[in-house]
Amino acid sequence: MHARRALLYVPGDDWKKITKAMTLGVDSICLDMEDGVALSHKEIARQTIPKALQELDFGASEKLVRINAVGSGLEREDIAAILPYRPDGIVIPKVESLEQIRWADDVIAGAELKYGWPLHSIRLLIGIETPRGVLHLAEIASHPRLDAIIFGGEDFAAAIGATRTPGAIELLYARQAVVVACAAYGLQAIDIVNPDFKNLDALRAEAEFGARLGYSGKQVIHPAQVEPVQTAFTPSDEAIAHARRLIEAFEAAQKEGKGAFALDGKMVDMPMLKNAQKVLERARAAGKA
Ligand code: COA
Ligand code: MG
Repeated sequence: MHARRALLYVPGDDWKKITKAMTLGVDSICLDMEDGVALSHKEIARQTIPKALQELDFGASEKLVRINAVGSGLEREDIAAILPYRPDGIVIPKVESLEQIRWADDVIAGAELKYGWPLHSIRLLIGIETPRGVLHLAEIASHPRLDAIIFGGEDFAAAIGATRTPGAIELLYARQAVVVACAAYGLQAIDIVNPDFKNLDALRAEAEFGARLGYSGKQVIHPAQVEPVQTAFTPSDEAIAHARRLIEAFEAAQKEGKGAFALDGKMVDMPMLKNAQKVLERARAAGKA
């Protein structure tokens, strides 16, 4: 699965920002048709995004397009406008039911068949950003075309009447519910946007906290946010070295017939091994180790 440490939104009607996005070395570029585009500019986005998919070199960045929500009345024309130009994946915002994913899956499968692309080669990422979306996570996360769930913190806070605070304590329950659903079905979990794009210290702290919660990446909205977020979601050299040491010590202990042992004065057993393996998995996905 493509590593998505930083997923950058770019308004799909803004050619200048779209060309800029290509130069940033970001993991995923998400050309937006939804909330980053004014209602009066939806048609411009439907014309601009196909042009970008055809003409621009995305380099190693993944090509994603976010359409408007299923049920908005815009979704059919959005997806029809971009599918022929073969994005790597489609992002569906504000998903609340498995039915909505099935709709998108049918449309995408139709295009894969029509153009002779391998079935399931176009991946699906969804936004969970409403109370019903959170309540229905268990069935939503089970769909086989899904790669990732994106947690929309601002929309969710607005929907439940929460006041946003810098530590995002008001989002904790839903933010963790998304991670749990993702872990249950082997999906990537992509954390909240930090709109305060001039405050990179706050961004770093929020990204590191998201990584500690179990998120594998984070949404970003400005070029300056890319590097801090990529760093926060890449295991540090120390974390990698510690994971390697723990795995070696674990294997040695197993040979001696010990399930639990002490390393640096702390107990180690199976869960710590699994955690260390996850660290190395993430390091490899980020091209490190
Ligand atoms: N993607 C690509 N380039 C971007 C960008 C983005 N998301 N946001 C800013 N840039 C570019 C600007 O065009 C500018 O380029 P330049 O130096 O070549 O002129 C440079 O980065 C610096 O931008 P800056 O002047 O600091 O910001 P701004 O006032 O132009 O834009 C925002 C601020 C918030 C409007 C802009 O970052 C943005 O549109 N972000 C995405 C919003 C979005 O999609 N929201 C929906 C999903 S939550
Ligand atoms: Mg949103």
